[in-house]
Order: sequence, then C-alpha cells, then structure tokens
Amino acid sequence: MSNVKKSGTFSLGDRKVTRLGYGAMQLAGPGVFGPPKDRDAALAVLREAVASGVDHIDTSDFYGPHITNQLIREALHPYAQNLVIVTKVGATRGADASWNAAQSPAELTRAVHDNLRNLGLDVLDVVNLRIMGNVHEPSEGSIEEQFTALAELQRQGLIRHLGVSNATSAQVAQAQGIAPVVCVQNHYNLVHRHDDALIDELGQKGIAYVPFFPLGGFTPLQSETLSAVAQRLSATPMQVALAWLLARAPNMLLIPGTSSTKHLKENLAAADLVLADDVRAELEAIGQKRG
Ligand SMILES: NC(=O)c1ccc[n+]([C@@H]2O[C@H](COP(=O)([O-])OP(=O)(O)OC[C@H]3O[C@@H](n4cnc5c(N)ncnc54)[C@H](OP(=O)(O)O)[C@@H]3O)[C@@H](O)[C@H]2O)c1
Repeated sequence: MSNVKKSGTFSLGDRKVTRLGYGAMQLAGPGVFGPPKDRDAALAVLREAVASGVDHIDTSDFYGPHITNQLIREALHPYAQNLVIVTKVGATRGADASWNAAQSPAELTRAVHDNLRNLGLDVLDVVNLRIMGNVHEPSEGSIEEQFTALAELQRQGLIRHLGVSNATSAQVAQAQGIAPVVCVQNHYNLVHRHDDALIDELGQKGIAYVPFFPLGGFTPLQSETLSAVAQRLSATPMQVALAWLLARAPNMLLIPGTSSTKHLKENLAAADLVLADDVRAELEAIGQKRG
C-alpha cells in the first residue's frame, strides 16, 4: 500500500492536510451530470481514499448537481475529525447540463446552504468562490460583491475558511482585502503552466495552491517525454505528472480526480515517487514547449 503521508503536509486554514488529496468531481455521471453509472463503485472510491490516508477532499454541490456531495455524505459521514472537505460555489447547472454563473449574494447563500445540507455539516471547512467571468480561464473583474457575501456567511459561522478559484493575482489580492484567503484553485498541470508566477507568490504568503485538472482533466495528459520518463522510472505517466506537481512547490495541494479505485491507488502511490533534478528538468521542457 502507498504511504500517502510521504507527500508531506501544508496548511489549509487552521489545519494541516496531506498534500496528496482527492477531487470528487469524476464521481457524478457523464459530463459531471446525473448519477454515476456504478454507485457502489463511487462510494468505494471515497472510502478507499480516506482509508489510504487522504484527509483533503475537493467537491461542489454543482457536481451532479448535489449527487457528489450526497455520495460523500453516504460514504464518509460521520466524518473523521481530520478530514477537510473543500467545496466551491458560484455556479448552477441547467437541465441540459450547462454550467451557469450564480454569483449574486442570494445565489451564493443558497449554494452554501445546499452544500451544508447535502454534505450533512453545520459548518463548511473551506469554500472557494468559483469566479465565472470567463468560465475557462481567469479574467480580470471585481469580485468584491461575491467575496463580501461569502465573508458575511463566514462571519455568521457557516464557513471556516475562504478561497478563490479561476482567479487572477489581482482578484486574490482583492479578496484578501475583504477576508483571509487560504487557497487558490486554478487550472495547472505539467503542460498548462500559466500560473507559475502566482504559485510562487502564494507560497511566500503561506497560501495553498490547488491545481484543478492536475492530470489534464477530461482528456488526461499525453506526452512522449512523460511516457518515456514514466517507463524509465517503472511508474505510470499519471504518477510522474503528480510527482512533478508535488516537487513543483511546497504550497501545492493535489486533488487528482478519478472514478476508479484502481486509478486512485495508482495516483496515491505517486507519493512514493521522487524525481531527480535532471528528470524534473526534462519534464519542465514539456510545458516550455507548449507554453
Ligand atoms: N475549480 C474548478 O473550476 C474545477 C474544475 C475542474 C475540476 N475541479 C476539481 O479538481 C479535481 C481534479 O480535476 P479533474 O478530476 O477534473 O481532472 P484530473 O484530476 O486532471 O483528471 C481526471 C481524469 O483523469 C482520469 N484519471 C485519473 N487517474 C488516472 C490514472 N491513474 N490513469 C489514467 N487516467 C486517470 C480520470 O478518469 P477515471 O475516472 O477513469 O480515472 C479522469 O478522466 C476535480 O475532481 C474537482 O474536484 C475544479
């Protein structure tokens, strides 16, 4: 069995979590909509994650919608004391599975209550504001109204810590002027390196950086260099991609997503993989080539 603790820890608000965690988005049905094909398999993935030492699970009530949170509750409630569940608000799902911005204070308040109910919690550990100006990548624009609404819910005791997702550096700074930001969740992986400067900036401030799509998302990463390195190390390309992220910065917290217990075990075993400096340099070149 892998020792997930070898990935180390980093602070997420007032808790320290193991750097290799789990992202639950893949547990809903196709397109993150509706129920999973195999409900028991989804529950098994969640139980296996926690049994393997994962203490940080990422979710949202708009996965399913509601279904992923309900699965987490069914599989893991009452929650272990050390488990940190991070959720995000700021969108809803249409009947056609579309993703729609839902950023008014009333919509954000409703989303927080939906998360509390479906997860079976009185207080949410961490809530990320999912910024929706441009759904696919960070774009500038004020988040004052949205983040102030979440800070008010935090003041009321419904949320312990706040974060932002799909955020620019300026938006992180704006949010921090309203309430402390403990994590930033943006698109980043071996190939998609847009946030290199932001990661280091956040590290200096003790803020966790949590890449979404760490394995490439719906189309997992493919690269000849990645495959060649993996073969040389007797590892899989996904393990190498995760080990590279762990080595990239100490404030990096990983939430690889999978609907498969086999893939989960494979991913968690990345904690055992140490990349030599020359191997990291070889992998660095993948992102530099693609920008
Ligand atoms: N803030 C945001 O806007 C945002 C956006 C997207 C995601 N997220 C969060 O980030 C988490 C991670 O992102 P993600 O799940 O979308 O993408 P990901 O972790 O980059 O990749 C997931 C994909 O990789 C496959 N996979 C996982 N492990 C594998 C393995 N060992 N071998 C081969 N294929 C493997 C999965 O398929 P299988 O199910 O078959 O393993 C799935 O298709 C999500 O779960 C979610 O919590 C946040």
